Amino acid sequence: MTIPMHDTIIILDYGSQYSRLIARRVREANVYCEIYPWSAKPELIMAHQPKGFILSGGPNSVYAIDAPTLPSFVLESGLPVLGICYGMQLLCHSLGGIVAFSEQHEYGPARLKIDDIQNQLFHDWVSSVQADRLQIAQQADQVWMSHGDRVETLPAHFKAIAHSDNSPLAAASDIKNSYYMVQFHPEVAHTIQGRLLISNFVTLICACKADWTSEIFIDEEVSQLREQIGNKRILLGLSGGVDSAVVATLIHRAVGDKLTCLFVDHGLLRQGEAQQVLETFQREQGMNLVAINAVEDFMEALVGVQDPEEKRRIIGQLFIRIFEREAKKLADIKLLAQGTIYPDVIESAGRDQSVAHTIKTHHNVGGLPENMQLELIEPLRYLFKDEVRRVGEALKLPPEIIWRQPFPGPGLAIRCLGVITRERLESLRAADAIFVEELAEADMLHSGTQQAFAVLLPVRSVGVMGDGRTYKEVIALRAVTTDDFMTADWARLPADLLAQVSRRIVNEVPGVNRVVFDITSKPPGTIEWE
Ligand code: XMP
Repeated sequence: MTIPMHDTIIILDYGSQYSRLIARRVREANVYCEIYPWSAKPELIMAHQPKGFILSGGPNSVYAIDAPTLPSFVLESGLPVLGICYGMQLLCHSLGGIVAFSEQHEYGPARLKIDDIQNQLFHDWVSSVQADRLQIAQQADQVWMSHGDRVETLPAHFKAIAHSDNSPLAAASDIKNSYYMVQFHPEVAHTIQGRLLISNFVTLICACKADWTSEIFIDEEVSQLREQIGNKRILLGLSGGVDSAVVATLIHRAVGDKLTCLFVDHGLLRQGEAQQVLETFQREQGMNLVAINAVEDFMEALVGVQDPEEKRRIIGQLFIRIFEREAKKLADIKLLAQGTIYPDVIESAGRDQSVAHTIKTHHNVGGLPENMQLELIEPLRYLFKDEVRRVGEALKLPPEIIWRQPFPGPGLAIRCLGVITRERLESLRAADAIFVEELAEADMLHSGTQQAFAVLLPVRSVGVMGDGRTYKEVIALRAVTTDDFMTADWARLPADLLAQVSRRIVNEVPGVNRVVFDITSKPPGTIEWE
């Protein structure tokens, strides 16, 4: 464990769907934090020399058999603690207060009335009266509730500091011991001043320095990489996505030519992507980039394959085979860099996988070849996606790379439903490019949707063009709005925009004579069609 360079907050995760959001809010206050399961080893956590703890919400009741508990080292540390929802109940229960079991759940918005405006948790808080006067957000005092049980009697030394219509104890604190608890969720966007509250806790109450910025991250990471890599040669699989692009740039900045990037073109990328990777990294940044044209291999391996999981499996395995084969040709490689980011780390740190069904296996192209025996370097291991993008901006990467929408590892293969042929891929690529171009033209590529693409369906329908009958395939347009890609709604794109996209696709794309727009949310649908 390395010595911490930044003041750190530890978030103990009690199973809330919002734990990651808490971490993001802390980081938005420019304070470093990490999430640990509540049952993690105390030594691991205390090695960070944390400045405070946040206890997340969770689905349990403190009275349930086997309910997650508050590990004793937290209170013994003497550090500030903020309990959110279940975290509040747990803190209360552990300190001798009374939590009332309730069958009735309070879910949704509530108005928070502050009873102690001097409390540091509410520093700079805008009351609804001020909000009215300033004519800013009418809902300034809105908070988001989502709980069953609630605190009935506070532990000794605690004082109520805010209430709502349904919760007389919506927030409380024991200032002397720096214990704070809130019944609502400050981390969700529906709690209008939640960011402020979390920032107050970490910067005022825990007294963390707000020094977690992209520039400082880059400086520290570059010197750490220089030390870690030394004179060894390091390999990176470049995919065209923002994560591997940022990793490449950081490592190149640290050790220049000791980095070799391997780019395997599997022929399943979007229009212009392969060229852009070469343009940016080889020509502009002057990196050592080995580009492998493996289109033929992938086309051959996919002949006749229709099943989506089979496509994923074939692509994932072939990618690793080619990557290994090409890497072996490079002499003396000792290290392998990867674009792993914090959500991947949290995910694999072991949530209860037994309850989560595998809807789709996400075989990620660019994944680690297991038997290569190279030491792994993962510079983005502790960053969220939005932080990776900010680092990318600070590194002056092109906006098209930084703001590229998510793209599945198996690429267009899972958007080309049915069998994959070069012709069908070409049609799909052309239709997709038209859709993206028109969205960008209408300034809706980022504000109107978080992911938008075309899907080619293996269905023919009859049309008429000129005087002739046509019998061709269908393009489905998919555009969604989403925060986290776990749930999504279909984007309400303007009808005129859709009309223009449809007109262009039918006129310009060979093999297609009909365009439909997907109006399914997730759930019950998924974002991709396969
Ligand atoms: P679904 O279709 O599961 O997609 O709603 C959620 C997000 O994941 C992306 N996705 C993938 N990403 N490999 C990936 O790297 C895959 O096999 C894969 N399948 C879906 C999808 O584009 C969306 O952003």
